[in-house]
Amino acid sequence: MSHRVGAILAAAGRGERLGLGPKALVPLGGWPLVLWALRPLQEAGLDEIVVVAPPEATAEVRRLIGARGSFPAVRSVLPGGLRRQDSVYAGLQALTQEVGWVVVHDAARPFTTPELVARVLAAARETGAAVAAAPAVDTLKEGTGTVRRTVPREEMWHAQTPQAFRRDWLEEAHRRARSEGFAGTDDSVLVERLGHPVRLVPSCHHNLKITGPEDLRLAEELVRGSTTVRVGMGFDVHPFAPGRPLVLAGVEIPSPVGLAGHSDADVVCHALMDALLGAAGERDIGFWFPPSHPRWRGARSRELLVQVVARLAERGFTPVNADVTVVAEEPLLSPLVPAMKASLAGALGLDEGAVAVKATTAEGLGALGRREGMAAWAVCAVRAPGRWRI
Ligand code: CTP
Ligand code: MG
Repeated sequence: MSHRVGAILAAAGRGERLGLGPKALVPLGGWPLVLWALRPLQEAGLDEIVVVAPPEATAEVRRLIGARGSFPAVRSVLPGGLRRQDSVYAGLQALTQEVGWVVVHDAARPFTTPELVARVLAAARETGAAVAAAPAVDTLKEGTGTVRRTVPREEMWHAQTPQAFRRDWLEEAHRRARSEGFAGTDDSVLVERLGHPVRLVPSCHHNLKITGPEDLRLAEELVRGSTTVRVGMGFDVHPFAPGRPLVLAGVEIPSPVGLAGHSDADVVCHALMDALLGAAGERDIGFWFPPSHPRWRGARSRELLVQVVARLAERGFTPVNADVTVVAEEPLLSPLVPAMKASLAGALGLDEGAVAVKATTAEGLGALGRREGMAAWAVCAVRAPGRWRI
């Protein structure tokens, strides 16, 4: 039997109990659930992945996966069926002939680890079939309204995904279920019906399934709770130059003197960019936008700030707040503070209440006091991704 492993990601559900549209597209910590579920499959080194999406959202799911560029194993994104079982069946038809082993996973499980995928696959290779399962921890009651009986919880498991199977078993199981009109809520039950042994692979309750709003709230808490807040600082100074425009925080300020520099010499944006980069542990603006490079001649620094924010966002860093102090003897900046705040808040994607711009003079002391130039200090906090992240 071929060792090649294919995966089917079942992502075609309507998400009716969650009530936020197709569940695969629902964001968790800023990323759609389908990408959360794809990551462990990709990182487990599976050879090919087929994603089964809601028919009306197939193009959108394909676009999201492609845009991310980090899922090279995804072979196709195709429309699913009415029931989960139909969707997995559709996925089976799309795997290449060389695939000998199939991992089936639900897009509704964002916290699955590549390690769990590997363990389930390894167990399946021993017996032919395996499922991730968490031991039942609550006492189990059977009944509606009143208890009919208490079910001993020893030997009881909550079946999860990933599940892995010999391809021929899984195909046979689906064919039989279809022809016999059997409907199951997972793939294991279809294989069990054929009398094949299915290995239980102990998993944990962290591998939770997003079913209703409560699950999504819990998942959001887990994602958020594992993040950290980091702080960065930045400083910049530019000499005054008569006749140059004065641009601060991306705002053009009426003034007979501007600041000399290779770019628009926006000291506020420069200090803030360095603060952001510092918080993310990155190199400084001189490294990313070298003044020696003609590309940055006359650059609008606010646009560079937007680029820095986007670069950090790709690594999962988002600004929390920013605080800037400008030191200048002239011009009087306080009337322009609201415009500067609004401009920075826009660039950072923050509410204006999370951005402060303060101006002070140097009381005549030193070069700044002699009106030779202007300086800015910036501090900002960014939320850094934690353990649970894409
Ligand atoms: N699924 C699927 N095709 C379907 C139904 C479900 O691929 N026709 C997938 C879902 O996308 C999900 C997994 O099977 O990843 C488990 O299903 P469930 O949690 O029930 O998700 P939904 O069917 O989307 O939710 P609901 O039942 O509340 O509508
Ligand atoms: Mg469902």
